[in-house]
Amino acid sequence: MDIKACIFDLDGVIVDTAKYHYLAWKELARGLGFDFTEKDNEQLKGVSRMRSLDILLEIGNKKTDEEMKLKYAESKNNKYLEYILKMTPDEILPGVISFLDEIRALHIQTALGSASKNAGTILNRVKLNKYFDVVVDGTKVNKAKPDPEVFIKAAVELNLLPEQCLVFEDAQAGIEAAINGGFKSIGVGSENILQNADLVIPGFEGITWKDVYEKLRITE
Ligand code: BG6
Ligand code: MG
Repeated sequence: MDIKACIFDLDGVIVDTAKYHYLAWKELARGLGFDFTEKDNEQLKGVSRMRSLDILLEIGNKKTDEEMKLKYAESKNNKYLEYILKMTPDEILPGVISFLDEIRALHIQTALGSASKNAGTILNRVKLNKYFDVVVDGTKVNKAKPDPEVFIKAAVELNLLPEQCLVFEDAQAGIEAAINGGFKSIGVGSENILQNADLVIPGFEGITWKDVYEKLRITE
């Protein structure tokens, strides 16, 4: 079946906010008296805020009640907001705009499928709203990736079937969500981490739709 739409994760695919999430979680961990490494952070990528906090607290071997968890999540988010409220369009990852321009010119629809409740703020900051026909973010979904809810909702809003959409993701949990929902997926990042994707690209720099599409067909 032909691909009619691309669904993009936001953090780590369109913009490099994965680093800001990491710095904000690391600061929370430091405040709680333990270290949180970049390797630990891989487990949090693509995962909702509250689930991320649970994983972080498990890593630090900390037990706490729901009230404190909400405080920790708020404190992390405030730190994260300090970073993202300073973002500019320069922080759109290399090659993203030309890839979006190319596929839109080919009449391939575009959607955002992000777990983040801050997705709207980020799109505004980097001025990318007009590039997406559909935006499904953390304010619209209840189930965190690897549940496919976010991508299924995007497909429904696009009026397409999962097999007509291609998902771009930088997180293991996101690739699993795509697979669980019956979507083809492109991993954006490291082959070692994203080996379950149909294809892995290091980023969008120098990548055209033809490259992606032809390589995908080879794997069919
Ligand atoms: C995902 C990020 O896009 O959004 C995760 O990869 C993050 O790291 C999740 O935890 C939720 O984001 P937010 O902005 O709602 O805390
Ligand atoms: Mg991501």
